[in-house]
Amino acid sequence: ERIEVFCPATIANLNCGFDVLGLALEGVGDVMHIAKTAQSGIVIKQLSGPSLPLEAEKNVAGVAALSLLKALDIKQGFEISIEKFIKPGSGIGSSAASAAGAVWGINELLGRPLSRKQLIPFAMEGERLASDVAHADNVAPALLGGFTLVRSYDPLDVLRLPSPEKLVATVIHPQLELKTSDARKLLKSQVELTKAIQQWGNLGGLVSGLYEEDYELIGRSLQDVIVEPNRSLLIPGFDDLRKAITDAGALGCGISGSGPSVFALSKGKKMALAVAEAMRYTYEPLGIPYDVHVSKI
Ligand code: HSE
Repeated sequence: ERIEVFCPATIANLNCGFDVLGLALEGVGDVMHIAKTAQSGIVIKQLSGPSLPLEAEKNVAGVAALSLLKALDIKQGFEISIEKFIKPGSGIGSSAASAAGAVWGINELLGRPLSRKQLIPFAMEGERLASDVAHADNVAPALLGGFTLVRSYDPLDVLRLPSPEKLVATVIHPQLELKTSDARKLLKSQVELTKAIQQWGNLGGLVSGLYEEDYELIGRSLQDVIVEPNRSLLIPGFDDLRKAITDAGALGCGISGSGPSVFALSKGKKMALAVAEAMRYTYEPLGIPYDVHVSKI
């Protein structure tokens, strides 16, 4: 018994929703093949992509899978073979894709004892291994699809939000590895009240924009006055990128997760492709290799 799993890339934070908002990209991700084995335990194999630790306890998919099997008290073993396309440290949820894919696939092979929402805490164990913090803003959209909001971490309460039909994401990934754990060291532990007011105003605006399919409102809510000012310093050409993306007509843009990828949201594919062109045009002279993806949400 085996299953093939598409593990989507995800964009966390979406500017105003640090650690709580995220979305899944329909067309960008890894592929995982999971099979039941005669022996118990988790065996990790890698079929392609940047090399990952193969010891189950050191691999995000392995750790997530082991935590699920332990909670369900299941002795059945599994082999997880990973075709890795999302590079670790890219800012589009590489670890989340592996962790979410593993628990989703195993749950299917076990006859679906848990719901997708119930799988989130186990996928979060993979994030804990990858970045020292069990954040859910990548694994939740990877498991549930579309936009998600972590309303609360304790107790965990994750909501699905609607994806307006015409919303398309464009992502540029400068090929520099930026570890989430390092990008988190730049964060201050205190937030000024005036900034918090701006941030939660925008968060409410963005959620409302998704429900109302109000593209202008989504665009003007895509602001981050708390994290971006520090983290953007780690992304070469960030200010030029933002100007080019805005000039190309995107609704809004920002750092994808902890970076260095930068995302933009557009209304319609035509605009998203124009934004992709503007990203390439801005990045080409910098001499840093990059990929650009355009994807529905
Ligand atoms: N919310 C996390 C962070 C996402 O920004 O550190 C990491 O992908």
